[in-house]
Amino acid sequence: MTDQKTPRSLPLSEAMTIAAQAISEVIEGRSLTEVLDQLDAHERPIVQSLTFDTLRKWVRSHELIKQFVPKAPPPEVDHLLSVAIALFLQSNSDGKGYAAHTIVDQAVRSCDEYEPTMYAKGMVNAVLRKVSLLVQPPEGEKRYPPDPISMFLPPWWRASLKKNYPKAWQAMLIQQAQRAPLILRVNARQYTRDEYQSLLSQAGIPSQPIEELAGIKLNSALLLHAPVPVVELPGFYSGAVSVQDAGAQLAAILLDPQAGERVLDACAAPGGKTAHLLELADCEMVALELDGARLGKIGGNLDRLRLHSDLVRVIRGDASKAAWWDGKPFDKILLDAPCSASGIVARHPDIPFLRREADIWTLQQRQRAILTQAWKMLNPEGLLLYVTCSVFPEEGEHQAIWFAAEHSNALRLSAPGQILPTEVNDGFYYALFKKKGP
Ligand SMILES: C[S@@+](CC[C@H](N)C(=O)[O-])C[C@H]1O[C@@H](n2cnc3c(N)ncnc32)[C@H](O)[C@@H]1O
Repeated sequence: MTDQKTPRSLPLSEAMTIAAQAISEVIEGRSLTEVLDQLDAHERPIVQSLTFDTLRKWVRSHELIKQFVPKAPPPEVDHLLSVAIALFLQSNSDGKGYAAHTIVDQAVRSCDEYEPTMYAKGMVNAVLRKVSLLVQPPEGEKRYPPDPISMFLPPWWRASLKKNYPKAWQAMLIQQAQRAPLILRVNARQYTRDEYQSLLSQAGIPSQPIEELAGIKLNSALLLHAPVPVVELPGFYSGAVSVQDAGAQLAAILLDPQAGERVLDACAAPGGKTAHLLELADCEMVALELDGARLGKIGGNLDRLRLHSDLVRVIRGDASKAAWWDGKPFDKILLDAPCSASGIVARHPDIPFLRREADIWTLQQRQRAILTQAWKMLNPEGLLLYVTCSVFPEEGEHQAIWFAAEHSNALRLSAPGQILPTEVNDGFYYALFKKKGP
């Protein structure tokens, strides 16, 4: 298959309308990924960029709305204002982007969708003109200071970060409110990292290797200086490369699969780590996933990366039960458990809007049930790698301590533990256990 062309984009006013509707759906409790997945290819890039920035700048945009609108506006107008103000704030912080009059004009146009139209247009016009004077003032006047912490977090989440990371929590939040860079994993079956970096530079896409993370050497990670649509990456459709955060790339390296080993990826969709394991070795792979809709993505990814073979089985099943298992034990198990995803909010800024405090306990129980069952399916001398993309200790270190206390045959090996998010990686937790022999 040949690489396709970048899709045509949308007029800004239409994109703002769709983005405001998407924000409304997130506020009502829907995942932004699900909402974006329903868009046409030409709509997605711009709407994704607008919605991500809107959610990242939620606190600041609402301070401004409150300042200029004494009575809270109807939700659809509030969400359109938030999209437009995020555009102002983004332009203010990176000096790029749209001129103030364009943002006002396009936002007013997109009010044609709302009833009563004249009321919405009047309010949007008045508020955005005032905001524009603050954020993009005339030459020589003082600029609105960029806000270090503009991301929304529910109070229980903020309190947990403060308590667990008293020194690092503020820097972590500032980091997570920034646009996340695009990180690639080069498919080691097709190219070395150096070879692929040359291909990128021939295509005019500057990049740099990420050599290590948490003291562990990364052989395939590349950071792009400016993100590009994946369709523009050389060989993307023939499987040369995948988009995968540097923190996520540690999983396959830590599990270190070998040819001929029987490996279980217990919570596999969409298959990023399954694929990485298969790029490293000809192992016999069982990729298990509970969610039928997500299961299909595993096959799609393996096909694109040319990793499908007789050695790979993709199964729908519940990792906390044995019903799907043929009884043959595994040499290695990757348990990338369902979790709060609190470590990946830079790439999923809707998560703080969707999580509830009680979810953490529920997730903890689910993780324990999967850990308990997975351990029974592991060979003596086998390895189990427990992973979450969370920064809450309840889903990380507390689980590892609980697990070791419950299983006298579990030997804890060296692994990074809690990794906090930085500009090149999301937040992850890693614990590695070896099953002592009989
Ligand atoms: C963190 S994601 C896995 C990401 C994947 N390892 C990757 O790198 O692409 C966790 C996955 O576990 C699945 N899941 C949740 N509960 C499960 C269970 N009881 N058994 C199997 N899969 C489960 C979720 O549907 C989700 O796809």
